[in-house]
Amino acid sequence: MSQPAPAIRAFFDEPTNTVSYLVWDTATKRGAVIDPVLDWDNRSGTADTAFADRMLAAAAENGVAIDWVLETHAHADHLTAAPYIKARTRAPIGIGEHIREVQAIFRPVFHADDVKPGGGDFDRLFQDAEHFAIGTLDVEVIHTPGHTPACIAYKIGDDVFVGDTLFMHDYGTARADFPGGNARTLFRSMKRLLALPPHTRLWMCHDYKAPGRDQFAWQSTVAEQRAHNPHVKDGTTEDEFVAFRTKRDSTLSAPLLLLPAIQVNIRAGRFPPAESNGVRYLMVPVTARNAAAVE
Ligand SMILES: [Fe+2]
Repeated sequence: MSQPAPAIRAFFDEPTNTVSYLVWDTATKRGAVIDPVLDWDNRSGTADTAFADRMLAAAAENGVAIDWVLETHAHADHLTAAPYIKARTRAPIGIGEHIREVQAIFRPVFHADDVKPGGGDFDRLFQDAEHFAIGTLDVEVIHTPGHTPACIAYKIGDDVFVGDTLFMHDYGTARADFPGGNARTLFRSMKRLLALPPHTRLWMCHDYKAPGRDQFAWQSTVAEQRAHNPHVKDGTTEDEFVAFRTKRDSTLSAPLLLLPAIQVNIRAGRFPPAESNGVRYLMVPVTARNAAAVE
């Protein structure tokens, strides 16, 4: 099915190396926001919406009405601004249906009893191969587990928003060692995306600048990934990837915003309910390598 390409504006959040997107149908001016970042100063515990406001301003400048807030997965490196966008646009928040598994893993970790059962914090849970519309644009959901069990990509014609399923073709791939992550599954998900036509444009959720590249970049193609991605280019076997990824992941430390991000993002961006003093707190579960350390 051929349809006009969507208009795409990328917004890069340098503090978290995240790319958020505003995507719209030029025919109807209906649009979606993908993976919006909430500004979060972890040192002071301060949240702000300047980044999301830039996205909303761009939508307004282009006369675009936002119909969807789309997440590719529950991010571990930034907090989502989805509820803020939803409050201002009434757009429902969508994510992959396997978010239920991610919530089941982390709900007890954060004693997050307010997380609703069955993924009810989100407005729409997408299944693999499901289709929905942004204006007259057809969007296909592709389940791409591996980085997390709930990862999905959004395919709009020849443009695919891949989340963390791939990084730039000169950089590599995302870690697969979060709870519920799996390197072998990630390889298969990547191969599924790389089986799309070579000219398919792939839009990343992160960039860290590859060695020798001095600009951030977030758009690649299937052909470029298959020719150049050092972790997954053609000729790389599944076992080679799994061995490499497992070894690399064993050297990585937890992402800076892992704890705040996960407990907010599994709530679809809600912060935990306020305590009796009216203040909202984020939680740091304490791990004691030596029990005496916390006695
Ligand atoms: Fe991620």
